[in-house]
Amino acid sequence: MENLNLRESHMKLKKGRRVLLFPLPFQGHINPMLQLANILYSRGFSITVIHTDFNSPNSTNYPDFTFHSIRIGLSEEQANQLAWPIGDVIALLTSTNITCAAPFHGALVKLISESSEEEPVACLITDADWHFTQAVADSLHLPRIVLRTTNVCSFLVYEPLPLFHQKGYFPIKDSKAEEEIPEFPPLKAKDLPQVKTQNQEDLFYLVDSMMSSIKASSGLIWNTCRDLEHSDLIKSSELFKVPNFSLGPFYKHFPCTSKSSLLAQDPTSISWLNNQAPRSVLYVSFGSVATITEAELLEIACVMNQLVPITRVVGRRGLANSQQPFLWVVRPNSVENSEWIEVLPDGFHQAVAGKGHIVRWAPQEEVLAHPSTGGFWTHCGLNSTLESMSQGVHMICAPSFGDQLVNARYISDVWRIGIHLEWKMERGEIEKVVKALMVEEEGRKIRERAGALKEKMELCLKPGGSSYEDGQSLVDHILSL
Ligand code: UDX
Repeated sequence: MENLNLRESHMKLKKGRRVLLFPLPFQGHINPMLQLANILYSRGFSITVIHTDFNSPNSTNYPDFTFHSIRIGLSEEQANQLAWPIGDVIALLTSTNITCAAPFHGALVKLISESSEEEPVACLITDADWHFTQAVADSLHLPRIVLRTTNVCSFLVYEPLPLFHQKGYFPIKDSKAEEEIPEFPPLKAKDLPQVKTQNQEDLFYLVDSMMSSIKASSGLIWNTCRDLEHSDLIKSSELFKVPNFSLGPFYKHFPCTSKSSLLAQDPTSISWLNNQAPRSVLYVSFGSVATITEAELLEIACVMNQLVPITRVVGRRGLANSQQPFLWVVRPNSVENSEWIEVLPDGFHQAVAGKGHIVRWAPQEEVLAHPSTGGFWTHCGLNSTLESMSQGVHMICAPSFGDQLVNARYISDVWRIGIHLEWKMERGEIEKVVKALMVEEEGRKIRERAGALKEKMELCLKPGGSSYEDGQSLVDHILSL
């Protein structure tokens, strides 16, 4: 049905131009790129997705798009970095920006030469992390537009990165953590987008290359809307001086993250939710990359367990006391040194049976839209954040790295639709925050604000709304290139 609607809209608005898209091969980047592809397809463009042979999207879910695979071309040692959990994301991005250059160039030459006169290639849209693509596009005189999949502020904060480094903020030390960053209120030093890497120089180089390749590009697309990040979007236009478009949240245009999911989504998540009371369930998930330690898993488990036996094994208190049912996603290999949840003591599953459900991967979009879902304990990746906001679900913020730290501060202090756990992954603190969000007056007010923000975002997407208008401007811009 959805494909039919998309196809109908595409045929009606057919532009006779093709757009090539190149996502970064990670879930949090593939989802928004394919959502953007759907938006452009529905506005009449034909779509080709270029992807690496690692983490390839399932092309059969997109019968209207053309897919073109390129080799990621890593050595065995580099490829090992791709094993989950990813060791050093920055090292990996540094390598792949080199190894993909030749195969990508070959792919562009082929796709451009094979494109028909009736449907020439209008432009290339790549993830901002693929900075090497600007030089390749320039060499073939193909306009390149950039998609940045984080929130705006977390990217702007990278501009003075060397300065923050000199001030001793990277990596953050306890003595500096609470220092305010006057240029980016309300961020504190501990909210700056830290990413662990062996070699800080790689991080500086990556950021610098992304920034300059955006400045040389034909435009910048953000998966956000003016109602969420108005002043940051103005700063972005001043910094990059190329046309900026914010037409998010993308997924609200055509909800369909299940199609681009790299892992199988467990349908029992929904059948289990069907048997829970309205707004009673705390949904817990930390996205596709973040990891937790075994000790943290046990702290969470303890909080999840309301019954006696397990509390004797892993501790004394917990969500035990807050009486909240929970749906908990534990991604395979997301617990350090474990394959899954084997570290949980015997008896945990019986203890929580009926009141809790653990899955490896959930249909998150459907979970957040489900009437039984009453709150989301999240790592604050931008996709999860936008999906939650779009359903008016308020959040507990437990960021892990990078832009998630900034998103978390925005959720708690700017949009005020969640409570920040402030990195206290400890049962007493978790229990306090879960209760505050799910049952106390504070949570009720936060939920009200989340509901109001949801309505605002819906207006953004309607004719006359800022995201709707930016969508039109993007179409016009691509046609003018
Ligand atoms: C990464 C970064 O961590 C994030 O900060 C950045 O903004 C994008 O890249 P990730 O950590 O995976 O992304 O988080 P997020 O942005 O939330 O994306 C996860 C996606 O996986 C979401 O679209 C979510 O719906 C989906 N998901 C998650 C599932 O389909 N099932 C799940 O069980 C969990």
